[in-house]
Amino acid sequence: MAKPRTYLTTPIYYVNDKPHIGHAYTSLATDVLARFRRLDGHEVFFLTGTDEHGQKVEKAAKDAGEDPQAFTDRVSQAFRDLTVTMGFSNDDFIRTTEPRHKAACVALWKVLAERGEIYLGDYEGWYAVRDEAFYGPDELTERDGVRYAPTGAPVEWVKEPSYFFRLSKWLPELLRRYDLPEGHPERIDIEPESRRNEVRAFVAQGLREFGEGSPKLDLSVSRTSFTWGVKVPGDEKHVMYVWVDALTNYITAAGYPDTSNPRWAFWPADVHFVGKDIVRFHTIYWPAMLLAAGLPAAKRVFAHGWWTNEGQKISKSLGNVIDPVTLVEEYGLDPVRYFLLREVPFGQDGDFSRKALINRLNGELADALGNLANRTLSLIQRNCEGKLPAEGDAAVGGALLAGVQALPGQVRDRLDRQEFHLALEAIMASVRDANGYITQEAPWALKKTDPVRMAAVLRHLHTALRCQATLLQPFMPETMSALLDQLAVPAEARDIAALEAPLPGGTPLPPPAPLFRKIETKAA
Ligand code: MSP
Repeated sequence: MAKPRTYLTTPIYYVNDKPHIGHAYTSLATDVLARFRRLDGHEVFFLTGTDEHGQKVEKAAKDAGEDPQAFTDRVSQAFRDLTVTMGFSNDDFIRTTEPRHKAACVALWKVLAERGEIYLGDYEGWYAVRDEAFYGPDELTERDGVRYAPTGAPVEWVKEPSYFFRLSKWLPELLRRYDLPEGHPERIDIEPESRRNEVRAFVAQGLREFGEGSPKLDLSVSRTSFTWGVKVPGDEKHVMYVWVDALTNYITAAGYPDTSNPRWAFWPADVHFVGKDIVRFHTIYWPAMLLAAGLPAAKRVFAHGWWTNEGQKISKSLGNVIDPVTLVEEYGLDPVRYFLLREVPFGQDGDFSRKALINRLNGELADALGNLANRTLSLIQRNCEGKLPAEGDAAVGGALLAGVQALPGQVRDRLDRQEFHLALEAIMASVRDANGYITQEAPWALKKTDPVRMAAVLRHLHTALRCQATLLQPFMPETMSALLDQLAVPAEARDIAALEAPLPGGTPLPPPAPLFRKIETKAA
């Protein structure tokens, strides 16, 4: 039987600056779902990359005194390096300056033009280079003679010839699709629900204010005042609006316009992971462009919240940008990966604090999981000659085993909804159960009184640990690989389906070694 396919994407990152924790976060969530789906028997295509055109990047290159191509080559590499530092398992890394991408943009533009979805006009209005976004006059505030967008970015008045995309025409269709029931093939699913309501209200408000089909609702999709972008086919004074170019990356990587490319089978994407600031681009402009071109829209857009640093907004000017590379050096990769998805419900804003990270690492990873593994495996070494006991009386496993049985399904459901923190909570609840079980059964004392029960208890603990480690692999690949080695689970038996097949009794186990290093904190 053919494997189910999953296509997951991260935003492509602007190369105006080096990567920080916010970038690492979006990609981490995507990586965890990609890894889980692979373990669960899917064929996965996981895409990330860099967004290299537009005025913002052009300006950053100029400020750095570099040619834009040399500049983007350099900064893009930093994002590629981050995928290695963070252990991301992306299948492709796209750069919007690549020939394959420019070709896809041109092809999509031509289709839109041929279908009458693009027309030439004049753009006059407010533009924020920092956001690469247009704003209406009533969205702005004025301070000291400068106008600002709601994001705090300064705007400038732009007046130039421009091509427009007939966005207005597609808005009613978008509203219809947002509201289709779960599972409907045409549904455009926006999550969390609060974001869906926000987007729906925004589109409905535009339609009320200007009326269906009003050119006021159309989108300016080209610029003539700078050149760092993809040239408009047939009118090379224009470059494409950077968001049109950027969003197209998701189909470029799937082979567009060559729909005979095997990768095209992955389209439409299952989930576009984005931050809350870029939801509108992904849920309004992007599906409208696709529908206008006769292509299916992505199935779901999930918008996560923003991190603050010890209570403060993260910004270069405040000098509190969190460098993922430093964090990983300090605490280790897996604890950082675990913390980012455990601490804050995905979809909500969260605060990064070292204290919270250390608490999670020391408490849940070293004390709860680390000790569970160490106690269980040391007892097997000492009391069972280092060999896995055969499966004993299931009744001795009781509630612990019932919980472990249900765990893969629970984790799958939660990850299907991008509830990463709840998936981790379910696994950690199982770890707590197992720790309660070991204390209650006291297998160290059973050696003399009831060695048969001792063997059964240790085997059940091994079963629980194997399941927990298997499900934690997407979150902490390196450490869980070490734990599965210690549990003597062969490499080919580490996926979700393999949990159904117990390891044979008598399998020799290597001597255990600590999994996590606790961080000493100075007493207050
Ligand atoms: N280039 C566009 C995306 C184009 S996608 C077709 C872009 N790039 S970005 O580099 O500015 O931002 C990329 C992602 O990083 C966004 O999803 C944004 O939400 C996320 N983050 C940036 N700062 C963040 C935090 N402080 N916290 C969490 N995520 C944040 O937008």
